[in-house]
Amino acid sequence: MEYTKLGKSELEVTKIGLGTWQFGTEGWGFGKDFDRNDAINVVKAAIDSGINWIDTAEAYGGGESERIISEALGSKINDVIIATKVSGPHFQKNDLLKAAEGSLKRLNRDWIDLYQLHWVNGYVPSEEVAEALQLLLEQGKVRYVGVSNYPPELIEPLRNIMGDKLITNQVRYNLLDRSIEKAIKPYCLKHQIHIIAFSPLAMGMLTGKYNRDHLPSDAIRSGAAYFWRKNLDRALKIIELLSELADKYGKTIPQVALRWLIQQDGVVAIPGAKKVEHVVSNAGAMGWALDEEDWKRLEEASRGELSYYFEE
Ligand SMILES: NC(=O)c1ccc[n+]([C@@H]2O[C@H](COP(=O)([O-])OP(=O)(O)OC[C@H]3O[C@@H](n4cnc5c(N)ncnc54)[C@H](OP(=O)(O)O)[C@@H]3O)[C@@H](O)[C@H]2O)c1
Repeated sequence: MEYTKLGKSELEVTKIGLGTWQFGTEGWGFGKDFDRNDAINVVKAAIDSGINWIDTAEAYGGGESERIISEALGSKINDVIIATKVSGPHFQKNDLLKAAEGSLKRLNRDWIDLYQLHWVNGYVPSEEVAEALQLLLEQGKVRYVGVSNYPPELIEPLRNIMGDKLITNQVRYNLLDRSIEKAIKPYCLKHQIHIIAFSPLAMGMLTGKYNRDHLPSDAIRSGAAYFWRKNLDRALKIIELLSELADKYGKTIPQVALRWLIQQDGVVAIPGAKKVEHVVSNAGAMGWALDEEDWKRLEEASRGELSYYFEE
């Protein structure tokens, strides 16, 4: 296993965590093939594979993701590091305190290890958000705080108040979308705020199982730019190189894609999984390394932009 301490904290996590946005409602959302029992087994398999933390959110499956994690871990829930998130509309002080209570209840825990602001809410001043978070820290209900989808100019006022308690920024980061490298990543590295890479497999595109003739059709991914035809040429070129490197190292395509991310200082990743075999495979991105030269080849091959302009 490979561990790192998040930010300037003592929170020591494996470089791969488990993402659980997938744990939603059956029949729609992130894949029609979601199955509650599979999800419970995914959580158990993650821990058995050595992964020591799980990312969730009050928004995932309307709280169902947090409930599934609690049900799967049972009495072992306190042995696992839990990162959850409060949704943007709940940033006013009383709402935020209430949201934290809701997550604690669904998780069946007395504290949250990492409590993240899920996305920016420009209507609530940083001071008010920070006041609520400070209170949760003082009460011992939250150990550390993180943000998600935050640009430097909005992290700065929070960091000025929260200091070293603010330890992470969870953002989209994968070989198809490296846009955080312009401003967000340099800022975070400078201030020792860890990047938690979400969608590290580009929602499954970087696993090599999708192509021009086979693309996901679920509600969430049918609109995602990774799968738009105009972005496919670049994606398939990167997957070709991932495949070559997977053969060379005796690994799988997703393992190499994840390895490229977590081999960087200050970056951890939370691939999502709906099946036990996914999570077992994704844990296998740890414990080995790409040669510097191969890491660089992927870096060069993945330069360029993912187009978010709608198809013409
Ligand atoms: N903070 C935020 O705003 C935010 C936004 C998005 C995500 N997140 C977090 O980040 C986590 C991961 O991101 P994500 O779920 O968007 O995308 P992802 O991790 O890039 O992709 C996950 C999907 O890829 C497929 N997959 C995963 N591992 C695989 C493997 N080894 N082999 C084959 N297929 C595999 C599965 O879908 P299929 O089998 O259906 O292809 C899975 O649902 C989420 O669960 C969530 O915790 C946070």
